[in-house]
Amino acid sequence: MPYETLRIERRNKGVAWVMIDNPPANAISERLMEELEKAADELEADRGVRVVVIASAHPKTFLAGADLKDMIQRGTQFAGNEAGIAEQSARMQRCFDRFATMPKPVIAAINGYALGGGCELALACDFRIMGGGKIGLTEVSLGLIPGAGGTQRLTRLVGRAKATELIFLARRLEPQEALELGLIHRITPPERLEEEAAAFAEQLSEGAVRAMGLAKRAIYAAEGLPEDGFGIEAASFAATFKTGEPAIGLAAFFQKKQPQFLR
Ligand code: COA
Repeated sequence: MPYETLRIERRNKGVAWVMIDNPPANAISERLMEELEKAADELEADRGVRVVVIASAHPKTFLAGADLKDMIQRGTQFAGNEAGIAEQSARMQRCFDRFATMPKPVIAAINGYALGGGCELALACDFRIMGGGKIGLTEVSLGLIPGAGGTQRLTRLVGRAKATELIFLARRLEPQEALELGLIHRITPPERLEEEAAAFAEQLSEGAVRAMGLAKRAIYAAEGLPEDGFGIEAASFAATFKTGEPAIGLAAFFQKKQPQFLR
């Protein structure tokens, strides 16, 4: 199966770039998820690939989150079938976890909006470098919750108090605030993102990347993300569809209006 929503570029010093290209907004469709998994398999197996960079082919957007058009269809398709919706969430968790568990350094080079699932994919990477845009778990503004590991990873990263604020208020953080919170590692001017991400990736690649892969496994264990945390996230994501709030939030998004949850 040839890639349709991304391309893999093998560049200098064993650095492979995964350029996501799924217009108009790099929304995470089923096809993109399948291809991210396939790319993860390919890059993990290729011993010539020492470091992976995930980036976007679009100037304004890293990833705009789960595909909301798909989400509406699936909400209808799985109406009343909470287990089916929870499985969709678990599917996305597993996809992103491939990068969190890949025994090689993985860098997110964030050029633009990294919202919802886009932020969750970035959180599954080892490093986040931002050259512009905004980042955040914005699902609650749509009546949903993060369903691809975000509640677990963000809470471990910034602590419960801040994670609660960011998730409840669906905050879209500027790079500077994200840096101050420890959500990202560094900021670059937009026009220097690719160059600086490449230089950092090459610096990692010159190091003992097999040792980094093994350290990564141990760091993942230290993070102590509980299996049931992911399970509760998926079940809670599915439960949002019984509240009536996604219908309000998603309709408002596509009508380009503010959602009115208080009626
Ligand atoms: N899923 C599906 N389509 C999406 C999308 C998503 N997550 N995000 C954006 N799009 C589509 C829009 O519907 C629009 O399509 P159209 O041209 O057919 O109307 C197109 O991408 C461009 O989006 P638009 O909102 O018009 O562009 P913008 O530059 O004003 O804003 C974003 C860009 C990314 C800030 C904005 O689209 C946005 O907030 N998206 C949703 C982000 C989000 O909350 N994600 C969490 C999902 S769980």
